[in-house]
Amino acid sequence: MNGNIIIKNASELITCSGFAAKKGRAMSELHIIPDGAVVVKKGIIDAVGTTKEIEAELEKSGSDSSEFDIIDAQNKAVLPGFVDSHTHFIFGGYRAEEFSWRLRGDSYMDIMKRGGGIVNTVQATRGASANELLQAGIKRLDSMLSFGVTTVEGKSGYGLDKDTEIKQLEVINHLDGIHYIDIVPTFLGAHAVPEDFKGREDAFIEYLIDEVMPTVGERKLAEYCDVFCEKNVFSISQSRRLLTRAREMGLKIKLHADEIVPLGGAELAAELNATSADHLLQASDEGIRQMAQAGVVATLLPITAFSLKEPYARGRFIIDSNCAVALATDFNPGSCFSESIPLIFTLATLYMAITTEEAISALTINSAAALDRADTIGSIDVGKQGDLVVLEYPSYKFIPYHVGVNTVEKVVKKGNLIFDKEKGGLAYC
Ligand code: NIG
Ligand code: FE
Repeated sequence: MNGNIIIKNASELITCSGFAAKKGRAMSELHIIPDGAVVVKKGIIDAVGTTKEIEAELEKSGSDSSEFDIIDAQNKAVLPGFVDSHTHFIFGGYRAEEFSWRLRGDSYMDIMKRGGGIVNTVQATRGASANELLQAGIKRLDSMLSFGVTTVEGKSGYGLDKDTEIKQLEVINHLDGIHYIDIVPTFLGAHAVPEDFKGREDAFIEYLIDEVMPTVGERKLAEYCDVFCEKNVFSISQSRRLLTRAREMGLKIKLHADEIVPLGGAELAAELNATSADHLLQASDEGIRQMAQAGVVATLLPITAFSLKEPYARGRFIIDSNCAVALATDFNPGSCFSESIPLIFTLATLYMAITTEEAISALTINSAAALDRADTIGSIDVGKQGDLVVLEYPSYKFIPYHVGVNTVEKVVKKGNLIFDKEKGGLAYC
């Protein structure tokens, strides 16, 4: 585990080369090297090329190959590690009964209005110890890893009070320290209106600003502030107020926008120059146009639309509008209890008119950009982190083609092989 690895003979080395979000046609360009090789030294990508070129280079420089783990990726495609840029993976309890209610015809918002939904998870999360949340978090991260995820965003938002929001963020930060997956923490205190603030949404926003966010900012517990900007949750003006203050306290911003009704969340994201706006099922043409102009990444979450039987976000239209699109799971205990990367590929390609190539850009370089990390992860470029995925098939085209099934064989994080299906799974325990 010294962070030195050489992967060679890859039938396709899909580099996704680039250091910023890709828009429009650029999302189709994967910059593939046939018979490719990549060298990672001390966790950082040191050389990328054809196997012939890399072997010649190594010989010329007199490198001692015994210092490297070697992976022979013959007949296998190699990609950058996937980045899951929108999840709520730290929570107590489950909501399996809600899934049955939805099968019966209840809507997500109806369940929320009658006191179920997010508020249900809030009770369970308040009741869970930090250690319980931590242990559940490790299991969930291990599962994500098996799907090739090497960086994940994780939100708070199941506390809605100071102690529990901080507890969730502390757990997320702790996990970032002990797990191979890198975690980007997001403060989502404005995820729902807690019981004691019902009808006093403005007061709850002020509570978050005055009582919770200063601690989050000072202790650097989160990198982002997010808000559920939605009819009957937080309005455009409440969201604007919260996010503006968050930015003043040193947090970057993103939004749950235009998920259920077209409220103008996309327009707000553009106005505030948010890093990303997420969901966007109901975003207006004008909102998308403004986001494209402002360089806001549109993060689309197809498994949520699928699970809620809502219409999918207009992936094709958003890409054709020259707006950078990222794809993510939205893993959470309510609207989307799934961390499945293959399911995203299936839904995005079959139901959102996104091509396989665009979906790969959306889960690598563009989701890195949705976390403001396109300069360090999301592509196989010299100088970036050695986060890599080896498929068990010769081409990336197998990812959506093998419908809903995981095609990831190996995962390398910072130059260390940490998951290997051939060796029965996690390679680091
Ligand atoms: O992104 N829409 C709001 N928040 C989550 C759902 C959280 C939950 O239901 O627990 C989402 O879908
Ligand atoms: Fe979400």
